[in-house]
Amino acid sequence: MDVLVVGAGALGCWLSASLCASANVTVFCRAAQADAINENGILVVDGDGRSIYRSVKALDSADGLKAGFDLIIFAVKSYDTKNAAMKIKDTVLKTGGARGRDEPVVLSLQNGIGNEEKLAKVFGKENVLGGVTSHGMTSLGNGEIEHRGEGYTIIGEMDGSCGARCKRVAKLFSGAGIKTEVSENIVGEIWLKGIVNSAINPSTVIYDCLNGELLDGDEREKMMEDITAECVAVANAAGILLPHPNPIEVVKRVATQTAKNRSSMLQSIDAKKRTEIDSMNDYFVKLGRGHGIATPVNEKIVAKIKETEKERSV
Ligand code: PAF
Repeated sequence: MDVLVVGAGALGCWLSASLCASANVTVFCRAAQADAINENGILVVDGDGRSIYRSVKALDSADGLKAGFDLIIFAVKSYDTKNAAMKIKDTVLKTGGARGRDEPVVLSLQNGIGNEEKLAKVFGKENVLGGVTSHGMTSLGNGEIEHRGEGYTIIGEMDGSCGARCKRVAKLFSGAGIKTEVSENIVGEIWLKGIVNSAINPSTVIYDCLNGELLDGDEREKMMEDITAECVAVANAAGILLPHPNPIEVVKRVATQTAKNRSSMLQSIDAKKRTEIDSMNDYFVKLGRGHGIATPVNEKIVAKIKETEKERSV
């Protein structure tokens, strides 16, 4: 299978390094990342401290995309989804056709809510699969990452059907060591993961701590509980069927499984980069307003993170 991974942050590097054992993987990313990956490969430090190098081809321009891809996986930050999709669209759709293949399947494994909808506008609704992954990983620099916590990975058709292509992609992932399930409620899974990220990520920024350090049985846990309760109320009002009866349990389980990780939002703040708060807590705040659901805790969190973004990026 020919796979294009879009984005070479921690998630993109981990996916590329894992999948290259069972597929032809190309990673599409920024020039500095592409240069480092082409020169040194991708380095993954696993949970036991072992370093694994994988040689993967990296490209920083759509001009170099020659072959038709069977699968395109989006691993960029949620605010970059549309931009990245537009950069590759003409080439990947054209080359797919030239090789007489079906159009590529496009899968998002990104954080945040709304990525699949953006991808559907560019690649066509029928070509887009939804997905979530809760693995914890920390970027060590261009092409180098540390895997800091096993999580779950779930994919599915956005319309809730459970077709052969979904099973094929899940098989590819599981065969490459990324245990993956197929869900008939991927929309609910994406929302649940959105709640998990809204509870964990900004809380790690506010307390400047690892995911596991949020589980203090006190103030930090209370903050995650309050965030979660508001997000669940919004999801219910929006008619989303969450796949777990008690989402705060999932939040705490993910924080436990990724205890040693610095959340992606904290890593963005450390690197003086924009965060994904808009597709997490702020998504729930805005939608809550439309449904008449008050979200005072999430509103405060959004304001705090935006203030921190400004302070850190000066
Ligand atoms: O954004 C993140 O950091 C991850 O989605 C997660 C699962 C919270 C682990 O750190």
